[in-house]
Amino acid sequence: MALVTTTEMFKKAYDGGYAIGAFNVNNMEIVQGITEAAQELKAPLILQVSKGARAYANHTYLVKLVEAAVIECPDIPIALHLDHGPDFETCKSCIDGGFTSVMIDASSKPFAENIEITKKVVEYAHDHGVVVEAELGTLAGIEDDVKVAAHAASYTRPEEVEEFVAKTGCDSLAIAIGTSHGAYKFTAAQCTRNEKGILVPPPLRFDVLEEVSKRLPGFPIVLHGSSSVPQEFVKAINEHGGQMPDAVGIPEEQLRHAAELSVCKINIDSDLRLAMTATIRQYFDEHPGDFDPRQYLKPARSAIKAMVAHKIVDVLGCDHKA
Ligand code: G3H
Ligand code: 13P
Ligand code: ZN
Repeated sequence: MALVTTTEMFKKAYDGGYAIGAFNVNNMEIVQGITEAAQELKAPLILQVSKGARAYANHTYLVKLVEAAVIECPDIPIALHLDHGPDFETCKSCIDGGFTSVMIDASSKPFAENIEITKKVVEYAHDHGVVVEAELGTLAGIEDDVKVAAHAASYTRPEEVEEFVAKTGCDSLAIAIGTSHGAYKFTAAQCTRNEKGILVPPPLRFDVLEEVSKRLPGFPIVLHGSSSVPQEFVKAINEHGGQMPDAVGIPEEQLRHAAELSVCKINIDSDLRLAMTATIRQYFDEHPGDFDPRQYLKPARSAIKAMVAHKIVDVLGCDHKA
């Protein structure tokens, strides 16, 4: 199977009450860990590449790694997506360079400007058989080199979504309902603590999601900033020389609920980073004499695979939907 767009996956996900995982890729082991899990579970998959990933690993290396995964995973549809495309030129470069889906993220711009930039990307993308994700509302957290403080974040305004989608022609819409990028999604002051002293974040704004879905029936919604920051990884990192106090994510059951509604794509990056970092830190602690990267990257890749398999089955619900 060649790389696909997300059109068919989203239609089936919407109708079936599940979501597709969109996992960020930056190197070979991450691509392999994610795709091995998806192939074994027969799960449709989105591999996404940020501007930072292209700067780190090089566009061509990443495209070729994903093309290799397509060959190795013949039973599942895989889309290659640009995550947080900052401008028309970056989107064009990915559309021309083999991606099947791009995000234009003009969400920090005024509404009319967001429409104008998004529309331009949509016209070029659709002419080339590529689909477009756009964003309305602003998430808190860190994307590439841009840090959005919690006070500067804003929920999506449901009253804007119909005009935005009609005027831009975008294929899916990322909305802000309280998720946030990175491993520190909420400050301690925004959370309560459970009996174990672990931070419990404020609930997602399902009222906003439901209002958006009512206004855009059948239209695929995307959630960014959807890592759950598994506490076993945070604990392992902290026990093996790391310092990640009070790292906190989105509870998995809330993401599962969103996937049953109109959310068709759920973005996960930080949990991959945590799985990899926790495993490598522990490995170094336990094997101080080892220095062959294969020795520690192999368990890191396995940890990514196990974490992605768990997301596919227990959070996204997309196993055996390929
Ligand atoms: O939304 C941001 C993603 O986690 C990508 O992160 O820009 O550091 O590659 P990055
Ligand atoms: P996390 O930082 O929660 O993994 O979000 C990733 C993301 O939204 C990528 O676009
Ligand atoms: Zn994002």
